[in-house]
Amino acid sequence: MFEVIRNETIGENLHKMVVSAPRIASARKPGQFVIVRLAPGEERIPLTISDADPVAGTITLFIQAVGASTRKIVGTRVGETIRDVAGPLGNGSRIINWGRVACVGGGVGTAVLYPLVKALAQAGNRITTIIGGRSAPSIILGDELSPLSDSLLITTEDGSLGTKGYVTEPLRDLLADPRRVPQAVFAVGPVPMMKAVAEMTRKQGIETIVSLNPIMIDGTGMCGGCRVQIGSETKFACVDGPEFDGALVDFDGLSDRLTSYRTEEADSCRASECRIGLGKGAP
Ligand code: NAD
Ligand code: FES
Repeated sequence: MFEVIRNETIGENLHKMVVSAPRIASARKPGQFVIVRLAPGEERIPLTISDADPVAGTITLFIQAVGASTRKIVGTRVGETIRDVAGPLGNGSRIINWGRVACVGGGVGTAVLYPLVKALAQAGNRITTIIGGRSAPSIILGDELSPLSDSLLITTEDGSLGTKGYVTEPLRDLLADPRRVPQAVFAVGPVPMMKAVAEMTRKQGIETIVSLNPIMIDGTGMCGGCRVQIGSETKFACVDGPEFDGALVDFDGLSDRLTSYRTEEADSCRASECRIGLGKGAP
């Protein structure tokens, strides 16, 4: 049993939850994730560990309530417990001093980007962080990312905060400036965003690391649910990832697999009267 220590709404359908999990808090590395199951018989939801406090024995998770199961998880109150939190799972990020890096976060993918930026800053990198969302309320972690970054650029699609447009627009400017061009780019967010970033950087041969969130079931390499095509190889995101070379990822195949269960998600949402958008995976 894992006690919920804090549960705050930080955006539309987006919760920040702090959960007591002392063993995971001391063992986890940036980039790793947990699989959460609220109660026996409930769906297993993979969630990136956004932060951890080994002294307090807690981990921080950002949860976008996009379906029936995530909605139930964010409905857990402080002092209540979650039945299973399995992890840390997956591989930690490869953190080295690249020199100049760009870190790009789309929407709730910014929560996955945050531990990466923190670790890259600790390794001495000079970081341009670009985060974007549909409108001001969907911009998260700006205050936390700003002190870790040489510069923090914000975009919103409606222009309500930062520059109007997609995150790829400031990235394009960065890539075009020989004085600022990064040695590596990290991108986390919706699949079309990661695909667009990888296409832009491929032209300049810039190493680009993306964090993938395919459908996951067991998280241990047994079920094959999270398989992704990386170049000529089939990989399992849970044990081989979740980070991969963006230049090699079959993003179209990933998109197809992410929408495989749209009908079942719709049925599940209808059954639990959830009225939120469909077709997006949990963070
Ligand atoms: P969203 O659809 O609102 O997009 C957020 C931002 O991403 C946009 O404002 C834009 O700046 C950028 N973007 C989107 N499509 C783009 C495109 N075609 N080209 C360039 N930039 C584009 O995001 P959301 O509603 O917050 O959803 C977040 C998505 O991220 C979900 O689909 C979720 O499954 C995914 N996600 C992925 C991970 C991961 O590990 N990769 C983690 C968490 C969430
Ligand atoms: Fe089952 Fe990865 S989630 S193999």
